[in-house]
Amino acid sequence: MLVTQYFPRDLFKGKTVFVTGGGSGINLGVAKNFAALGANIAICGRTQDKLDASAADLRAFGTEVCSVRADVRDSDALEAAFEKANAELGPMDVLVCGAAGNFLAPAEKLSANGFKTVVDIDLLGSFNATRNAFEQLKETRGTILYISAGMAYMPHAFQVHVGAAKAGIDMMMKNIALEWGRFGIRANSIVPGPIEGTEGLKRLSDPAEKAKLINAIPLRRTGTVDDIGQAAAFLASPLASYITGCVVVCDGGQNLLGSALFNLGAEQMLHARQE
Ligand code: HXC
Ligand code: NAP
Repeated sequence: MLVTQYFPRDLFKGKTVFVTGGGSGINLGVAKNFAALGANIAICGRTQDKLDASAADLRAFGTEVCSVRADVRDSDALEAAFEKANAELGPMDVLVCGAAGNFLAPAEKLSANGFKTVVDIDLLGSFNATRNAFEQLKETRGTILYISAGMAYMPHAFQVHVGAAKAGIDMMMKNIALEWGRFGIRANSIVPGPIEGTEGLKRLSDPAEKAKLINAIPLRRTGTVDDIGQAAAFLASPLASYITGCVVVCDGGQNLLGSALFNLGAEQMLHARQE
């Protein structure tokens, strides 16, 4: 359910939200929730077709949309994307660092480049976005939201690259909250649980095992992109004006049971692929 059920529809009117990796999945869901509350939206990613389709979806909310092809690993490309968004929509009030890559890989088989690729997209990409957004966020006294994952604080099998990258993001978030608070800039992380219909869930969880997955979530349901969009809208809103440096877990309580079920399922998925 979109946030318009709970928040005033003009909460982010006149504000600009930039979402990296905003062309699909959770990040697009976050962008839609901000659009539904009146924000102008900018998105970036590597795939033009995905960006075009998502920009059309976002325009249906009646907001201005700027979509730019940019790889978050390329700081110059991001700088140009942020300049374009600033020229078209005004300085950003909210930066959402959502671009990420993931695959299951046993640590002993993962190549240095495989490890580096995920760290570069997730962690370096989030730094590149953060660094290039500074002047705009300083001007607006804006907010940064990092999309993290449970792998940041609980080991998950075949996710050594993702755990390292996401843990790095959460510590970076705390450093940024500490250093940039003096500019009025807040920074927080959101940790989604298993979110229905997303690329992440497809890569990491066998749909045939969905009943087991749901049983291992205290709230007995998988999440939706709107669950994450609602958390993002709250954290970026004046309701959260004294909240910074926090990791907000939005997972129906899944983390309380640890990662054992994930580990078994991931092993089965890897074995099935090798057969
Ligand atoms: C082992 C792999 C691999 C795999 C790639 N590599 N896939 N190693 N197992 N399945 C290795 C390659 O062999 C190569 O190393 C290196 O990684 C780079 O691969 P490329 O294909 O050249 O990388 P690139 O084109 O940059 O693509 C990045 C990607 C890709 C991460 C590999 O999957 C991607 O674009 N993903 C974006 C979408 C995505 O992942 N969405 C899900 C996010 S969800 P060598 O040594 O051979 O050169 C998420 C969920 C969190 O984060 C938690 C959910 C519960
Ligand atoms: P997704 O749809 O694949 O989202 C990732 C997005 O990032 C894609 O739009 C992708 O587009 C973009 N991207 C990837 N590499 C990029 C790069 N180098 N530069 C710019 N953009 C790039 O997957 P998702 O499952 O919705 O995941 C979204 C976020 O939620 C991620 O941060 C993920 O770690 C986190 N998360 C997901 C879950 C889940 O259940 N799905 C759980 C916990 C955390 P292109 O490939 O076109 O560039």
